Amino acid sequence: MNLENARVLENKEVKPNFRKLKLYSPKVAAEAKAGQFLMIKPTVVNDPFLGRPMAIYDSDKTLGIIEILFMIKGRGTKLLAEVKVDDALPVIAPLGNGFKITETDKNVVCIAGGVGMAPIYSLIKELHNKDISNNIIVGARTEAMLLGLDKLADLCMAVDIYTDDGSFGSKGLATMGLENILKEQKIDRVYCCGSMIMMKNVAKITALYGIPCQVSLEERMGCGIGICMGCVCGHKKEDGSHGLARVCYEGPVFDAEEVIWHE
Ligand SMILES: Cc1cc2nc3c(=O)[nH]c(=O)nc-3n(C[C@H](O)[C@H](O)[C@H](O)COP(=O)(O)OP(=O)(O)OC[C@H]3O[C@@H](n4cnc5c(N)ncnc54)[C@H](O)[C@@H]3O)c2cc1C
Ligand code: FES
Repeated sequence: MNLENARVLENKEVKPNFRKLKLYSPKVAAEAKAGQFLMIKPTVVNDPFLGRPMAIYDSDKTLGIIEILFMIKGRGTKLLAEVKVDDALPVIAPLGNGFKITETDKNVVCIAGGVGMAPIYSLIKELHNKDISNNIIVGARTEAMLLGLDKLADLCMAVDIYTDDGSFGSKGLATMGLENILKEQKIDRVYCCGSMIMMKNVAKITALYGIPCQVSLEERMGCGIGICMGCVCGHKKEDGSHGLARVCYEGPVFDAEEVIWHE
């Protein structure tokens, strides 16, 4: 884990309300693994006081560059959207456990909902580097919320796109695509990052087919480093008892069967 002032190299709108920040952050780039995140502040002044968690979307160890992809939601992300080239942004990273990749896997499915594309993109890059073939299913409410599609073609065996309103790709939910693939192909593992309802349904379907599944959870965070307990989720222990886990520290990636999903 590093504390670094990341220098802004680029701040670009990718879709209305969505931006990508390219940052020079060599220590973080050197260590980042797929599924890890950073706590970032839009300014060196302590306002806002708390950093905001953002998945590491892309990284280049050689150039010392990392990227984040984000949706403008509230005050913190609004300020992040306004940062200028050469601004120095305090980051703590890389944080969290990241996805577990099993080198013997041959064929996996990745599912990204909306900005869930950020950790999933770094995952498919790692899978591709390890010669694990992957199908990606991308889901969003509407075409305007589909992100990062241009970077997928060379890394994935197949790209399936679903929008709730049918404005792009097939009309419907990404889980429909998952069921189609699981019926037709031998799949070793499923990875998902999206809304809680999407991940919960993916967890149900993979449990039905007996396929291991990892989900990257999102919770509001305070410290991001395991101290404040602000980010806990319901968690099943190995002995079957129920407890709590810190999404920032034990997560954000969990085996889907470990998560206690809210009804
Ligand atoms: C591990 C992790 C990785 C994340 N990666 C990304 C990413 O790559 N791109 C991205 O756009 N967002 C990501 N998020 C969500 C992002 O951190 C929040 O959207 C952001 O903190 C909102 O800050 P804000 O100051 O703009 O909003 P606030 O003013 O703090 O809140 C505005 C609204 O956003 C909601 N919100 C705040 N924090 C979260 C959260 N953690 N999850 C869901 N809703 C939240 C609030 O409930 C409120 O409705 C991630 C969250 C986690 C925990
Ligand atoms: S955010 Fe503080 S313990 Fe997770």
